[in-house]
Amino acid sequence: MSNRETWSNQSAFVLASIGSAIGLGNLWRFPYVCYEFGGGAFLVAYMFCLIVAGIPLLMLEFAIGKKMNQAAPGAFAAVNKHLEWFGWFAVGIGFVICTYYSAIMSYCVNYFVYSFGLAWGDDPAAFFNERVLGQTNNPDQPWELGSFRWPLFLGLLVAWALILVCVWKGTRTVGKVVWVTVLGPWALLILFVIRGVTLDGAVGGLSYYVTPDWETLWNFNPAPGEVGAHRLWLAAISQVFFSLTVGFGVMIAYGSFMDDKTCIVKNSWIIGLADALTAIVGGFAVFGALGHKAAADGVPIEQVVESGPGLTFVTYPEIINGLPFPNLFGILFFVMLSLLAIDSAFSLVEALSAAVRDKFGFTHRKANLVVSIAGLACGMPYMFGSGMHWLDIVDHFMNFFGLSLVVLGTCLVIGWYYPASIMRQFINDRSEGTISIWWDIRIQLFIPAAIFYMLGFEIYERLQSAYGDFQLRGQEFAFGWAILILVFLASLVLARTSTRTT
Ligand code: TRP
Repeated sequence: MSNRETWSNQSAFVLASIGSAIGLGNLWRFPYVCYEFGGGAFLVAYMFCLIVAGIPLLMLEFAIGKKMNQAAPGAFAAVNKHLEWFGWFAVGIGFVICTYYSAIMSYCVNYFVYSFGLAWGDDPAAFFNERVLGQTNNPDQPWELGSFRWPLFLGLLVAWALILVCVWKGTRTVGKVVWVTVLGPWALLILFVIRGVTLDGAVGGLSYYVTPDWETLWNFNPAPGEVGAHRLWLAAISQVFFSLTVGFGVMIAYGSFMDDKTCIVKNSWIIGLADALTAIVGGFAVFGALGHKAAADGVPIEQVVESGPGLTFVTYPEIINGLPFPNLFGILFFVMLSLLAIDSAFSLVEALSAAVRDKFGFTHRKANLVVSIAGLACGMPYMFGSGMHWLDIVDHFMNFFGLSLVVLGTCLVIGWYYPASIMRQFINDRSEGTISIWWDIRIQLFIPAAIFYMLGFEIYERLQSAYGDFQLRGQEFAFGWAILILVFLASLVLARTSTRTT
């Protein structure tokens, strides 16, 4: 394994990890999840989960990768040979996410094209439903596929082509590409925030964003229809994991490319805080725009638009409309969003293809090609008019259940079996800053207990409502679990397949 590629230097590693972390999760997912789960209350839960769970887990993943010198499946196999499947399961969940993530990239590519003529006009919400989705996104009829959206398909091809170009040469190019894909977008983001918060009526949206309703944070007995604390916290913790790309084997793979001098503790903090800052700062732009729309339409902020994965494609055009030279800023913004997305998507392609290389001895190029073509093929269901609805369901299941199961498993395996104290020693040996026994306690006790509790409650509640008058939920529930079980079976098969050729 001595010939394993390493990053060309430390900043390449940090930037690539930041590139993986910062992406659509910050500017697309964070705003709508935050909006859906109560604004300020969610923000508090998010920051808490970041410090208590997100950053410690980031350290853990880097350490696993560095210590085992392998991508996730190999790394878990090195802990115990019966655990290889678990690594495949983690990257498998990441792969499913990547398939719809690239679909969202396709929306960005399409909106980039729409920007030239400001095609969304004065009513971006109507445009989104009628023109982009072809009016078929009726949540009451999710089993109707809707028409095939050719522009989205073209966008998806573009997205995968971009991803492939970026990963083609391996970690060395990745290190360089991220300079552009991370630092460029930040400048534009600041401009958008300034515009968003200065829109007429923005204040209403901003105060919803920064004023927590403390009660929701411990409202463990929600009235029907109310957001309960369990779900709020589950949403917050999975958004933290999603946003940091923790729990997908990605940071394990990136850790395995790390050289010996890189400080795990300090860099995890840098990466975690940079990621959270991007999401939180970006939130000001979105909530400013929401406040503006609420004031203009004369409705309360909670009801101004329907929250969901389509939210950003309504709010950002709204901001763009309010800027001077809207076409120019529209174009720049959607280029920026696509750039941010690329390095997140390719981090997963890297992680998966590193695993494929480690296992089957494929060449880098062959592995990348196989992964990308499979990803493109699996993205097809989102190319229909009802695609956003499917995307929402898959996103929910992958993040609420898949992701939490992976993190739970990682904490149990490394925390108890490995155990955490050895990993902590390993981290401290190669870090300037050090971590204390509190880190062990969080990995061993706090994080698993919290996930266990929230997950259990969520499953219990879902099972109950499946038998209620909410039949649709039952079907969606079955569909979501079917995908999870499929990923699980695939990982068992991959783990059993022998074996590397090198
Ligand atoms: N961290 C990425 C972001 O914030 C999202 C992400 C997490 C992701 N896991 C992934 C993207 C797996 C692709 C594949 O945007």
